[in-house]
Amino acid sequence: SKTLKFAVLPGDGIGPEVMNVALKVLEAATKPSGITLEYESADVGGIAIDNHGVALPDSTLDVCKASDAILFGSVGGPKWENLPPKEQPERAALLPIRKAFSLFANVRPGLLFKELVDASPLKTERIPDGIDIVCIRELTGGIYFGQPKETRELENGELEAIDTMVYKTSEIERIAEVAAQTALGRGKRVCSVDKANVLETSVLWRKTVTAFFEEKYPELELSHMYVDNAAMQLARDPNQFDVLFTENMFGDILSDEMAVICGSMGMMSSASLGTAKNGHGQPFGLYEPAGGTAPDIAGQGVANPCAQVLSGAMMLRFSFGLGDIADRIEAAIKSAVQNDIRTGDIAFGKKAIGTEAMCDAIIERL
Ligand code: NAD
Ligand code: IPM
Ligand code: MN
Repeated sequence: SKTLKFAVLPGDGIGPEVMNVALKVLEAATKPSGITLEYESADVGGIAIDNHGVALPDSTLDVCKASDAILFGSVGGPKWENLPPKEQPERAALLPIRKAFSLFANVRPGLLFKELVDASPLKTERIPDGIDIVCIRELTGGIYFGQPKETRELENGELEAIDTMVYKTSEIERIAEVAAQTALGRGKRVCSVDKANVLETSVLWRKTVTAFFEEKYPELELSHMYVDNAAMQLARDPNQFDVLFTENMFGDILSDEMAVICGSMGMMSSASLGTAKNGHGQPFGLYEPAGGTAPDIAGQGVANPCAQVLSGAMMLRFSFGLGDIADRIEAAIKSAVQNDIRTGDIAFGKKAIGTEAMCDAIIERL
């Protein structure tokens, strides 16, 4: 029988609340197949600052290194917002962990179940069958990491801050490969999103992507779109896309938009992948909800655990080759929301239940 060895990093805010549900669902879903979960939990983010003095302790990194995948919650919150920016949980834990494992490809499914179309702000007649697109976001480059990145004092005493957006062709090609592979497994269409009418990095991005697809994937349909138009097109007719493919910051912003048109931030899962293989011969990855620690509802037991549960399902699919069990988890969530079992963020007038009740409803339907 199979043993799944993964690191569990719940983080802050709603992180621990929804992680608790994900672990229970994973346990219940894998048990009938005789699978053992061998996970180790560790502090990350604000809780790690409180307990160890740093957002990403070496001991936490060691737990990750000894694992075949990482299940991550979310980090950050008001308690740590007044620390020096470089010490805050987002910049001192999440970005370094992505970088440490070269997790350059972030896969965010824009999946709105037909059973949940009423929770989308889009008119139901525009999305009668729900939404099924995917965003491939570059995750370890661009303006998030480029140097210089600093605040300096000018001669006249005023302050000036600089961030640098930078991309190399090799970084663009490796993420283009992920977009292409994703499209091959779906609708065979890739829309590359950039701002090539203004940004040098986008000019190189578009040129590199065009040459890459012409040479390696002529069978795929490649199109290009400016990011401002892409934001609009997503709200107008999301299903015109198959695979949306873009750089780090554009992907961050567009994926929040995708999350809300797909019902709620509480529904959007993600996988961050590199090229390293784990002990199962599958991609090593970090799996996390696209959303954050939701300070406005943390501690109330009302957060939607689905994004965390679906991230766990992605972990089973990508890092452990257990796509069939991932499908069953997804089906259980669909069935729950179809029967109007919903947390507050997707209730819209229907009765809202809490995080734990949602957990029970999912497990009941597995
Ligand atoms: P957020 O995603 O935490 O919250 C935005 C809105 O979505 C809030 O109204 C929140 O209640 C709602 N929401 C998010 N997840 C939900 C869920 N599972 N169920 C129900 N509602 C949910 O974004 P924010 O408010 O901009 O950021 C809060 C903190 O989280 C900040 O410190 C931010 O830096 C951090 N953050 C962390 C991550 C991460 O660790 N991956 C991602 C995004 C934001
Ligand atoms: C996300 C988050 C992070 C990002 C922040 C918290 C650093 O918003 O995962 O989308 O911008 O990548
Ligand atoms: Mn984000």
